[in-house]
Amino acid sequence: MSRKRTAILISGRGSNMVALMEASAIDTFPAEIVLVLSNVPDAPGLAKAAAAGIQTKAIDHKAFEDRPQFEAAVQAELDAADVELVCLAGFMRLLTDEFVTAWHNRMINIHPSLLPSYKGLDTHRRVIRDGGRITGCTVHYVRSQMDQGPIIAQAAVPVHADDTDERLAARVLEAEHALYPMALELVANGTVRVAGEKVRFEGKDLDQPALLSPAKTG
Ligand code: GRF
Repeated sequence: MSRKRTAILISGRGSNMVALMEASAIDTFPAEIVLVLSNVPDAPGLAKAAAAGIQTKAIDHKAFEDRPQFEAAVQAELDAADVELVCLAGFMRLLTDEFVTAWHNRMINIHPSLLPSYKGLDTHRRVIRDGGRITGCTVHYVRSQMDQGPIIAQAAVPVHADDTDERLAARVLEAEHALYPMALELVANGTVRVAGEKVRFEGKDLDQPALLSPAKTG
């Protein structure tokens, strides 16, 4: 089995990155992490990836005049590493239509809400403010609009009455760490495909819901 050569793009602590790296450390996992790239040179995730023996690269977006020039540098690194799949994991830069199109159906993202609800930042604070009882996380293919694109997998996480943003974030993050590797596996082994901007599961009933709950949702 040839494993899909995968890059992870980060901007910060990289806990989802670690979850993906740990899953891919097993030979039979269908994706191999060949590059971790950060737009923030001192992102803590870079050191964690390097410690795990993964090739890392920092490309400071501030060093470029505009977004296309920054992305050209990113693309050059992805090309140099023969990357086939890109995972965004806490990558805090908006991407141009051109970059997103170049990676159409080959770039996925994790977002800490049940999309299409609560796009954007500060999801947990807003869920608590609105009195939501259930939230969660979503892995989706990346499209030009932020936090939008065919949904690959979601995990539901309960909101507790006494939750703070931090407590809820920690509970959702635990679900993220289970969900993202699961979703990457489905993408990398060809189980999912996109048809009509919806994810279909190969060999399964077309009406199968794209809902996967990890065992531990807190
Ligand atoms: C996660 O909550 C992820 O869903 C969001 O950004 C956060 C990144 O955290 N996109 P980490 O860097 O993976 O720890």
